[in-house]
Amino acid sequence: MVGKPVAEDKFSFGLWTVGWQARDPFGDATRPALDAVEAVHRLAELGAWGVTFHDDDLIPFGSDDGERSKRISRFRAALDETGLVVPMATTNLFTHPVFKDGGLTNNDRDIRRFALRKVMRNMDLAAELGATTYVLWGGREGSETDAAKDVRAAMDRYREGIDTLAQYVIDQGYGLRLALEPKPNEPRGDILLPTIGHALAFISTLEHHELVGVNPEVGHEQMAGLNFVHGIGQALWQGKLFHIDLNGQHGPRYDQDLVFGHGDVLSAFFLVDLLEHGGYDGPRHFDYKPPRTEDLDGVWASAEACMRSYLLLRERARAFRADPRVAEALESSRVPELSQPTLGEGETIADLKADRTAFEDFDAEAAAARGYAYAQLSQLAFEHLLGAA
Ligand code: GCO
Ligand code: MN
Ligand code: MN
Repeated sequence: MVGKPVAEDKFSFGLWTVGWQARDPFGDATRPALDAVEAVHRLAELGAWGVTFHDDDLIPFGSDDGERSKRISRFRAALDETGLVVPMATTNLFTHPVFKDGGLTNNDRDIRRFALRKVMRNMDLAAELGATTYVLWGGREGSETDAAKDVRAAMDRYREGIDTLAQYVIDQGYGLRLALEPKPNEPRGDILLPTIGHALAFISTLEHHELVGVNPEVGHEQMAGLNFVHGIGQALWQGKLFHIDLNGQHGPRYDQDLVFGHGDVLSAFFLVDLLEHGGYDGPRHFDYKPPRTEDLDGVWASAEACMRSYLLLRERARAFRADPRVAEALESSRVPELSQPTLGEGETIADLKADRTAFEDFDAEAAAARGYAYAQLSQLAFEHLLGAA
């Protein structure tokens, strides 16, 4: 049985998630605005550990200095009262019409400079509140027509922007790492850095690449028809999984931002298994939208559902890993054998070429005839997921 979430579970929520008023391209808001202080208290009551925000979630765009400090001190007081932490913060470079062609890669240089300043200003606040990750989701970095964007120049500006921001973090002595969040499209027709793979390749070109990783979101890779678990596996392997956005999605279509687990549940099971057993100890951050049909009770029910889904999947994943039949099935499928290096210790290429068993005497027909028993293994995972094993 799973209990109530505790701080050690490291569950965090964006203010913009539970605070989403459910305005969509076809309809008006269905819910009233939610005060940040109320959100902090409710999340804490539900057992969340952290809260995250865009600058504009906390301090409306264009607020004067007095308004700004008033909002920050109210928020701080709520954090102190509840013990909630701020593990991550990010910048809104997408809502205001000034960003209609993007922030860091906008064709308009003045807007790129404004975007940099806007990010830096919120980095100051993030550091002040003790955040360790700064997310950059380039939702408006992209285009609707290929005539409009010189992609090579845009990549130059993207790199310049991230290098400048990383340099700022270093100069200021902030304990922040940057995490890029890929997404293939929406709100732009096509977004730059559309997938985990694109982001990882881009990061390797950065001056301070060691400070920059990724913040992949379940639904975003699935919108591109990709395997999220594989993407996370590679990000972990490259030491680049700095943060993660958990939610649900039903395959390639608009960004659904469903409750975690309420999309591809089998993939969610393997994801939790990987996070729990693959060495990730960062926040389990939910970036979802409470369905537009819900009133405020439904909002809190959906937040609770995200955490409970994770805990249930974690329980199932643990049972899967602890089951001796699973260990046996993994062995039959030769899964552990993949961890064994292909060349022997100290073996040279010449040694490999001299090894007749590797080629001349290798019986390809016999090896081809061996089954992998993945069917049994995969069904065992499925039965554990359903609690039937
Ligand atoms: C989305 C994105 C956003 C970003 C967030 C952080 O659903 O399209 O996930 O929610 O994560 O804005 O900048
Ligand atoms: Mn999303
Ligand atoms: Mn996200």
